[in-house]
Amino acid sequence: MPAANLPPLRPIRSFVRREGRLTDAQQRALDTLWTRYGVTAAASPLDLDTLFARAAPRILEIGFGNGESLAVMAQVQPAADFLGIEVHRPGVGHLLLRADALGLNNLRVMCADAAETVPRLPDAGFARIQVFFPDPWPKKRHHKRRLVQPAFVALLARKLETGGYLHLATDWEDYAEHMLAVLGACGHLRNTTRDFAPRPSHRPFTKFEQRGQRLGHRIWDLLFQRC
Ligand SMILES: C[S@@+](CC[C@H](N)C(=O)[O-])C[C@H]1O[C@@H](n2cnc3c(N)ncnc32)[C@H](O)[C@@H]1O
Repeated sequence: MPAANLPPLRPIRSFVRREGRLTDAQQRALDTLWTRYGVTAAASPLDLDTLFARAAPRILEIGFGNGESLAVMAQVQPAADFLGIEVHRPGVGHLLLRADALGLNNLRVMCADAAETVPRLPDAGFARIQVFFPDPWPKKRHHKRRLVQPAFVALLARKLETGGYLHLATDWEDYAEHMLAVLGACGHLRNTTRDFAPRPSHRPFTKFEQRGQRLGHRIWDLLFQRC
């Protein structure tokens, strides 16, 4: 078959599209609160000053799950603006409910695949990017589905302002080692410590972290700086 007639290659996804059940409250949140907090991926770079109606340090979180820890961070750091990206709609609905209950003005949410969305965010737009407990894809044949890969990390580094931080955490040892190797090989990032960092006090315990801890897992934080 000539190459032009081949079907397009399916991109490798870091997630399985499992819609799960949206509760009535989550559905209502998506219906009524999306206009306040939701951001639909645009073709051109997002203007963050317009989005948040002010200039402030910006923090991006990828794969926030149910968003509980992101909502807490936004609540205790009102001087910073938070943008969350999550592909799982029930988690997005959950975060919208929390944001509304807490009356947050410094949080916006995208329901999208970060691999497609992050390229449209402004370069040097963020003081911190955080990815907490990304799916570990433990089987070797699935390692290619891990979110933390050299090309994605190079993209994240480009989205950080000089001196900004990339903060990762995992409870999966060989993913932690993989992260350390990938971040260490990125020419635009430098480790703030020798290898793994202590959990910064500003990072609340996340839902997946607590599940890992119940299973007796260790936790690894990585804190690299854009140079
Ligand atoms: C293991 S969970 C961790 C959730 C949360 N950070 C926590 O610690 O509780 C990983 C999350 O990343 C999301 N995710 C995976 N790949 C993603 C992608 N490419 N774009 C956006 N979200 C993604 C999944 O839907 C899932 O909610």
